[in-house]
Amino acid sequence: MEQRPLFDITPFVPLTARRKNVLRSPKQHGSSSRDSRPYLEELGVEILDAPQPIQFQPNTNEPVHRWSPYVQGFSAQFVQRTLDRYRAEYREPVVADPFLGSGTVTVQAKMNGYPSFGVELNPLLHFVARVKVATWKVPPDRLLETALHLPTDRQTEAPAFLQSEKHFRPPVLRNLERLKGGIDAFQPATEEDAHIRDLMLLAFASILIDCSNLKRSPCLGYAPGKFVEDDAPFTLFASKIAAIAGDLRLCQTKYRDSLDTPAEIILANSMEYQPPIGYDLVITSPPYMNGLDYVMNYKIEIGWLGFARTHQELKQLKDAMVVCDNVSKGVVRRFSGVSQRYTNSWIEHIKAEIAANIARRGFYRREDMPEIVHKYFDDMYRVMRNVAQAIRPGGRFILVVGDSLIADVYVPTDLILARIGQELGLTIERLERARVRRSGQIRSYRLRETIITLRKG
Ligand SMILES: C[S@@+](CC[C@H](N)C(=O)[O-])C[C@H]1O[C@@H](n2cnc3c(N)ncnc32)[C@H](O)[C@@H]1O
Repeated sequence: MEQRPLFDITPFVPLTARRKNVLRSPKQHGSSSRDSRPYLEELGVEILDAPQPIQFQPNTNEPVHRWSPYVQGFSAQFVQRTLDRYRAEYREPVVADPFLGSGTVTVQAKMNGYPSFGVELNPLLHFVARVKVATWKVPPDRLLETALHLPTDRQTEAPAFLQSEKHFRPPVLRNLERLKGGIDAFQPATEEDAHIRDLMLLAFASILIDCSNLKRSPCLGYAPGKFVEDDAPFTLFASKIAAIAGDLRLCQTKYRDSLDTPAEIILANSMEYQPPIGYDLVITSPPYMNGLDYVMNYKIEIGWLGFARTHQELKQLKDAMVVCDNVSKGVVRRFSGVSQRYTNSWIEHIKAEIAANIARRGFYRREDMPEIVHKYFDDMYRVMRNVAQAIRPGGRFILVVGDSLIADVYVPTDLILARIGQELGLTIERLERARVRRSGQIRSYRLRETIITLRKG
């Protein structure tokens, strides 16, 4: 017979205030499909089910895209499918992306022989995206010859704020400094040399996380138990350069007709940048409201390539971006004092609900969350207004975006952006649910990732 213990001893796990709120949430087992019904009715549209892989992950094996390991964005295949969908409609479309990131859209447009524009505010990502389209004519053998015979007796010191042993083991750090010293010793005399230097810097930047005690998945954090060999900087750099050289060969054979296709990569704030030319196809994935911090998560590469020297400079850069939910309190306070802000009835309703839920709980990660939500849509309105003006009649604006659950309030980011598009004179042509996601706060709540297609005229 089974022996039963005298007492049932269940380990005691103290419930934090946050955990209690999660367990008691009225949103447990809910879904965005249900909560978006009233918004859809008001818009007079439906969301089509169109499951498809759109995440960046497959890019890590795709030529040129794989030069940098930045994982937030969409896949080259998604961009290609979108270009193919409209192939018959536009003869030689001008393709654009106001949130270019690591440049998936401009690389893919160039492979198709389509001229393109990309705007990006993070100088590291702007650099990455530019190098991925500007260097296709570099002779692969010259790149290999230069990069694999760099002097190893030079040294460029790591930026002070990255010198901590927590980031890199000291012998690895010394080898990184020697590698960077070798790259910096290469003085470009021609345009081709400058491209070779840029490719070496890109390769250097792209191995930094693998050489560190960190991981990015997608947020940057310590990787306990990770051990990096002393010579990893040299071995990883050599294999990255070999991969880039292989892709350059491909560019010069399979994509040789596209070698001169223009791709303009602009370092600017899309809230302010007014495109000087007309766009036919805008394909973009804006930052998600409670998504990634595109500055702090890339601080290692930003620091090493000299795009910021201190945490203060990083913070200034972050504060200029479309808002994310760990933005500085000062930015949100200043926004509250602005008189000309975009809003609509949905945003006001959502803000009031979030404020009421935070007051009821008595505590929330960010008390200023209603204002952060408002600023996100104000920022997006500014970008969309500039883009909508630039789109030619018959042109399309395609956005891939995820919705959010904030303090038990559903925020239909996709539908709000679609409504903003309508207000800017665009037509909602299609809303497609590409993927179901789990809410980070309440795992049983199903969110979605939507492809919004807006059309002009
Ligand atoms: C979701 S990512 C785009 C990823 C891109 N589709 C790719 O494949 O790499 C959003 C990008 O928007 C950029 N961004 C945020 N605010 C911006 C602004 N105000 N102007 C221009 N770019 C901005 C971020 O730095 C980030 O790279």
